[in-house]
Amino acid sequence: MVIFRDRLFANLDSMLVLAGHPSRLRPHCKTHKMEQIIRLWIEKGVTKHKAATIAECEMLAAAGATDVLLAYNPVGPNIGRVIALAAMFPACHFSVTTDHEKPLQLLAAAAAGAKVTIGVMLDVNVGMNRTGVLPGDPAAFTLYMQVSKLLGLRAAGFHVYDGHQRHMSLSDRKAAVAIHWPAIQELRKKCEAAGATVPALACGGTPTFPCYAEMADPGIELCPGTCVLHDTGYGTSFPDLPFKPAAAVITRVVSRPARDRMTLDIGNKAVAADPPKGSRVFFPELPDAVQDSHNEEHMGLITPAAERYHPGDVLFAIPMHICPTSALYEHVAIIDKGLVVDYWNVTSRNRKITI
Ligand SMILES: Cc1ncc(COP(=O)(O)O)c(C=O)c1O
Repeated sequence: MVIFRDRLFANLDSMLVLAGHPSRLRPHCKTHKMEQIIRLWIEKGVTKHKAATIAECEMLAAAGATDVLLAYNPVGPNIGRVIALAAMFPACHFSVTTDHEKPLQLLAAAAAGAKVTIGVMLDVNVGMNRTGVLPGDPAAFTLYMQVSKLLGLRAAGFHVYDGHQRHMSLSDRKAAVAIHWPAIQELRKKCEAAGATVPALACGGTPTFPCYAEMADPGIELCPGTCVLHDTGYGTSFPDLPFKPAAAVITRVVSRPARDRMTLDIGNKAVAADPPKGSRVFFPELPDAVQDSHNEEHMGLITPAAERYHPGDVLFAIPMHICPTSALYEHVAIIDKGLVVDYWNVTSRNRKITI
């Protein structure tokens, strides 16, 4: 996998322009998982970061991040790992999300016992139905009030992830956000009236980034992740977004088993296989090639252009889904002006670093 440095820098700058100020961003690191990119964010004044795993949190804190949100409700042994993170990186403020009182109470007891404070955001289900509490459910209010009272915890606001909002048109995405927004505000008012603070609302991903970015609410934190590297999936689905794919997988022709066929060494161990077979990558040089087969180490293409290619020839493949693709690589090559200028480790592709 390679990253084109100029494109990466352009995406980071476009994110800052869209956000309006670095303090409004809480970018998700799950797409790239690399310390070098976190250091770029820190140089640009971004102090808040989001993660999906404990390993990502550890990578962030080790890279110098001072405000890390684990947007994955900790349960079981992960509760102890969160406490271990807070103890290992005392200069970093860690927060987590919650949607149930049982793990919340275990977290509070563990935090109080270790004399650390963990921020907690109420995970609000705004329609994705993956995690969270419905904003109108009385349990949402009760749980947040518990967060604000439990020793060892700090009420950090609401987590509002809406990965189901995938309308192609930006105005449709804005309209969809406007539908769930009043319920968030109502819940917030109710919690504040009862004495809790709701300092932040961590909102959205890449598709709804422009929707929340144009809202004036000072509590909004913008949490896109994919657009740091971007990919063919989002590029095709959301043409309004000002980002360009910054990563590619380099592949070579290994065989030409028939006149109109060529086989590449980009199997499903080299590129994310969660998109449907046939559309897991885009070949800029061969946009019409049919991706006929995809095995562990091979991808078979049908294209009349096969006649022009020979074993050993190189093609660039832009992944449809970059986040699980980067997780397949221990390190990536950084390209500047056509040359490899560095290698960056994909540190938090591992489920565990030290904690
Ligand atoms: C909780 C959460 N926040 C933010 C993001 C970033 O969204 P995107 O990948 O659209 O940038 C994701 C992506 O999966 C997510 O799960």
